[in-house]
Amino acid sequence: MLCIPPDAGKRDFVMEKIIINGGRPLRGTIEVSGAKNAAVPIILATLLINDKCTIENVPSISDVSLCMEILSTMGCKVRMLSKNTVEIDSRPAEGGLSPYELVRKMRGSYYLVGAELGRYGKAYVGLPGGCDFGVRPIDQHIKGFKALGASVSVEGGYIDARAEKLTGSSIYFDTVTVGGTINVILAAVRAKGNTVIENAAREPHIVDLANFLNSCGAKISGAGTDVIKIKGVDRLYGSTYAIIPDMIEAGTYMCAAAATRGHLRITNVIPKHLESISAKLEEMGVTIIENDDSVEVCHADDLHRVNIKTLPYPGFPTDMNPQIGVLLCLAKGVSCLTEGIFDNRFRYVEELKRMGANIKVDGSTAIIEGGTQLSAAPVKAVDLRAGVAMVIAGLCARGRTEIEDIHYIERGYDDIVGKLRSVGADIKKVIIPDPVSFEKAN
Ligand code: EPZ
Repeated sequence: MLCIPPDAGKRDFVMEKIIINGGRPLRGTIEVSGAKNAAVPIILATLLINDKCTIENVPSISDVSLCMEILSTMGCKVRMLSKNTVEIDSRPAEGGLSPYELVRKMRGSYYLVGAELGRYGKAYVGLPGGCDFGVRPIDQHIKGFKALGASVSVEGGYIDARAEKLTGSSIYFDTVTVGGTINVILAAVRAKGNTVIENAAREPHIVDLANFLNSCGAKISGAGTDVIKIKGVDRLYGSTYAIIPDMIEAGTYMCAAAATRGHLRITNVIPKHLESISAKLEEMGVTIIENDDSVEVCHADDLHRVNIKTLPYPGFPTDMNPQIGVLLCLAKGVSCLTEGIFDNRFRYVEELKRMGANIKVDGSTAIIEGGTQLSAAPVKAVDLRAGVAMVIAGLCARGRTEIEDIHYIERGYDDIVGKLRSVGADIKKVIIPDPVSFEKAN
C-alpha cells in the first residue's frame, strides 16, 4: 500500500487521469467557451492599455490562468469579476519581470515581447514553451520587431529586445504565422507612424485581437485579410470586451458527435468560423444544420473516407488534425490526412495505434485505414489536441479507456469532463497516488 506522507502537497505524489467507458452516443446541447487563442493575446495585450479593462467570455483553462498569474507577478491588478469575466489594470506593471518558469509553460507567453516592446520600448522575456510539434521558430517575430526599429537578441533562454522609439514600417512575412502576426500588431499599435503587415495570418483570433485593441482606441484595419494596416497611437484606453467563441473547441465536439453516432447541438459558435470543418464532416456524410449562433451535428449511418490537408485559415485547421484523425479511423475506406503547417503533428498516432488504429505516417502525410472498431487502452495525452483526440477515441471505443497527462487537455478545454457528462458520456476525472513520483522522492 502506497503511504503518501501527511505533509505531501496537494499536487505531490498524485496523478490525474480521465477515465471513459466508451460506446455511448452523445446527445444534447453543449455550450462552447471563449477562444483560447484569442483570450491569451487579448489578456496579455492589456499591458498596452493605460487603464482598467474588463474581458468577458474568458475560458476557464490553465493557459489563461497562467497569463493572469504572469501579469499579476509583473504588478498588474487582476480581479475575477465572475467565472469568465476578468478586470485587469496594468498601470502598476513593470516590464522584464515575467517569471521564466511560468513563461516557459506555454507558447502564447511570447506575446509578452510584443506587448512589452509596445509599452516600454524594450522587452526581456523567457523563451516560450508549448506543445511540441517539431521546430517552432520565432524568426518571423524577430524580423517584425527589427523592421519596427528594435534590436533583438536571444541568449541565456531569454528574448531581449530594445528600441529607442518603435517606428512604423512594412513587414512581409516569409511564412503565414499566427504568432508573428499577433506579436507585430502588439509592438506596432503604439509605435510612431504606420505599419503594414503583408502575408499576414487571417485567423478569427487575430480579428478578435484587432477588434479589442480598436475598442481601446487603436487604429488597425484589414485584420482577417493578408494585409493588416496599423496607425500608431500614443495611448490606449480601457474598454469592456467579450472574447469570440472557440472554433476548435466547437470542431472538437462536432467530431465527438460524429464519432459516437450521436446528435449534438453546439451553442455559442460563429458558424462562419467552422466552414472548413463543417464542409469536411458533410463530405464524410455527417449532417450539419447551421443556425445563427449554433450548429446541430447528426451522425452519419456510414462515414465516408475523405482526403484532408491542414492549411492556414480559412483552410482546414491544423488544430483539428488529431480530432479528425480519429474520425477517419471509423470511416469506410482509406483516407489521406496531410499536415500543412507543423513538422510533426502526428505524435498522437502512436497512442491511437494502442487502441487499434491502422495508420501509416510518411513525413507530413498519414494514410488512415478506415473501418476500425477502436478498443479501449491506457493512453497518454502527448499534447493539447492529441489529448482531446484520445478523449474522442475513448468515447467511441469499446471498454474503459484511461488517459494520463491530462494537464495538456486542461490547457485548452474548459470543463471538458462536465460538458461531455452533460450529453451522456460515461467520463470522469480521477486523482490517484502516483507511485513514480513517490519513488523518485524517496
Ligand atoms: C498558433 O501557434 C496557435 N497557438 C496554435 O494553436 C496553432 O496551431 C497555430 O497558431 C496555427 O494556427 C497559439 O495561438 C498560442 P504559427 P503559432 O506561428 O503562433 C512557422 C493549439 O492547439 N513559423 O502560425 O506558434 C511554424 O514553424 C495551438 O491551440 C516560422 O517558421 O503558429 C509553423 O510551421 C497549437 N517562423 C508555421 O509557421 C516563425 O517565426 C505556423 O506557425 C513563426 C512560425
